Amino acid sequence: MLPVLVIHGGAGLIPKERAELRRSGVRSAARVGYAILQGGGSAMDAVVEAVTQLENNPTYNAGCGSVLNVKGEVEMDAIVMDGKTLACGAVSAVRNIANPVQLARLVMDKTIHVCLTAGGASQFARAMGVPEVPEESLITDYARMRWKKNKAPDANPMESQMGKMGTVGAVAVDVEGNIACATSTGGMPDKMEGRVGDTACIGCGAYADNTVGAVSSTGHGEAIMKVTLSRLILFHMEQGQSAEVASDLGLATMKSRVGGLGGVVTVDPQGRWAACISGQQMSWAAAQKDTLHHGLYTGEHFTQSIDDPH
Ligand code: GLY
Repeated sequence: MLPVLVIHGGAGLIPKERAELRRSGVRSAARVGYAILQGGGSAMDAVVEAVTQLENNPTYNAGCGSVLNVKGEVEMDAIVMDGKTLACGAVSAVRNIANPVQLARLVMDKTIHVCLTAGGASQFARAMGVPEVPEESLITDYARMRWKKNKAPDANPMESQMGKMGTVGAVAVDVEGNIACATSTGGMPDKMEGRVGDTACIGCGAYADNTVGAVSSTGHGEAIMKVTLSRLILFHMEQGQSAEVASDLGLATMKSRVGGLGGVVTVDPQGRWAACISGQQMSWAAAQKDTLHHGLYTGEHFTQSIDDPH
């Protein structure tokens, strides 16, 4: 069953015209991440590379393509976690870099801290030699159009804030049985400046522990934080539930207790995996034993050879 990589391209209401882009992006990122695992690479290298691919793809709400805050600016959150050591690194409200997930990894590898935020994260990025990119290079026409639409007097605030998310994330188990996770996002549309979401918070946007498994989550960040969704799912797995049942239980708790919707990808140490959503859509892909599994709508599950380039 090992190695295995499961990724998501965010839960939310995915407009029909963007569905195919969302599907093909996760399939292609899964192939790249899985190739690292097949070559004997680490789970951490695989999840960071898969998420980097999605950050570079303007279809998703992470890196280039991030949603805009209330001032029309890009502030991004990202996290990585190593299930062997429980080492973790995160950045929040970071600006002007292409790949927040790589900066999160640098926080884990090069500092004694878990999370750096805003100006401090940017200062650290400069010290590490991470290239600064103009904000405009992270903003797509689509993100700008949606931001303007949300400002219209007839905009529906719930629809505009929760409707079309696209956080990205990955979980993996490598051939040595080490587990890792990574999540990256531009956050929620029209968020207040300085808002920190679930993605940068350990146990909320992601968690990995070699003894239990790993989760990467997507959805309404404030709801995810209130139930510490990723750690809650791993708690259910510690109690003996499968990755799939535990994921559904965690998502059901988030819906019933705080009215939040979202999705997760989950693995256990044996390589059993799940991609679960509550109510909305989520593009996902899983690579295992040379097979690529993928889907977008609830209940959808396609399979194809990992070598099939489509
Ligand atoms: N789950 C992404 C966010 O709310 O920031």
